[in-house]
Amino acid sequence: MEYSNYFSEHTKSMKSSLIRELVASTKSIPDLISFAGGFPSPKTFPKEALAEIYAQVIREEGHDVLQYGASEGDNLLKEQLLLWEGYERLTKDDMLITVGATNAIYYYARTMLNEGDVVLVEAPTFLGSLVALNALGAEVHGIPMDEEGIDIDSLRSSLKKLRSEGKKVKFLLSIPDFQNPSGITMSEQRRKDLIRFAIDNELPIFEDNPYSRLRYTGEHIPTLYRTAYEYFRNTSIVTEAVSFSKILGPGMRFAFVKGDKSIIEKMCSWQQKINVTPDCVTERVVGHFLKQGLMQPHLDRICEHYKPYLQTMLDALEREMPSNVMWTRPEGGIFLWLWLPEGFNCDELFEKAKEHKVAFIPGSKFFPISEEQYNCMRLNYSFSSLEQINDGIARLAKLIKSL
Ligand SMILES: Cc1ncc(COP(=O)(O)O)c(C=O)c1O
Repeated sequence: MEYSNYFSEHTKSMKSSLIRELVASTKSIPDLISFAGGFPSPKTFPKEALAEIYAQVIREEGHDVLQYGASEGDNLLKEQLLLWEGYERLTKDDMLITVGATNAIYYYARTMLNEGDVVLVEAPTFLGSLVALNALGAEVHGIPMDEEGIDIDSLRSSLKKLRSEGKKVKFLLSIPDFQNPSGITMSEQRRKDLIRFAIDNELPIFEDNPYSRLRYTGEHIPTLYRTAYEYFRNTSIVTEAVSFSKILGPGMRFAFVKGDKSIIEKMCSWQQKINVTPDCVTERVVGHFLKQGLMQPHLDRICEHYKPYLQTMLDALEREMPSNVMWTRPEGGIFLWLWLPEGFNCDELFEKAKEHKVAFIPGSKFFPISEEQYNCMRLNYSFSSLEQINDGIARLAKLIKSL
């Protein structure tokens, strides 16, 4: 049976995960130090607390949570999430529980997009979203960023140009906190400017937020959703997905979404069709984790854990890299971004780096198709040991200097 003859056009044009392929190509190299993946440290998983709560939930509430549940998400959990985040004007209907943020991105894009519609993204952006948007037939355009986040002037001119060409620009996807891949955090003023621009131009924003609670130094900045809610008293322009993958563990596949009721309702309708419900056991466990007040101490612990890893990488870069290499200096999250001088090609450097037993993700993978930039790379600091960070950066710097 030759199934490829039967595949849909969408399936045929779908790309496999480039990152997974790149990471797989380094797997068999002994003593390789990899800054390529995006895994959280298993040391941050609250194993003991979760083990207890899972057991208790199944024993005492199993009759309920092992049954089919509600597509829109568990009530107890939603109450706890609203209390935890402190959004007094919101109700459970403004919220949907999803199987990770990836699921939320698909539901949102499914709800909004026809083939050929345009989505604007920060350039660079999260590869998983680019893959999802391409798979759904969207035309994706990147908007450049500076150290304060997305460039509003570029956004304005792109939107104007695309609309004047008759294109339907359906939404902007933004990762304002400790962005994957760049590590850039949008400034408070830029957030206000962006929301004002979005409201004035009726441009919906999808805010992808897996990292805002992973801040190790500096002042917390309100999310785009909160900025719209508090500063503009607007609860419809931003739809925010909060993933717990880097907080409790990506294996739990847990995220929640807040947004306009009309969007949440349609996303829920997709959930009914695709997943029926999220994992009801996990939902209740997260609900109890929050109810027992375990979240804030846990977040404090994670941030304390990651802080020296980020600092070690920043110090190693400062010590080892030649002066014509530049990098972002995030205050949280799990990634930073390196710019090499013009003319460097990090896709080629990746192959050479493997010979030097160090890996990263070439920056080109994070740009929309045909907008690739090649003299940049993403480095992850959440999965290696402190010693590996020092050694790996020294290896990478030596290679760059030699070229
Ligand atoms: C920006 C961003 N969005 C979404 C995801 C995926 O989140 P989830 O595991 O909840 O699907 C990630 C994971 O790396 C991410 O960095």
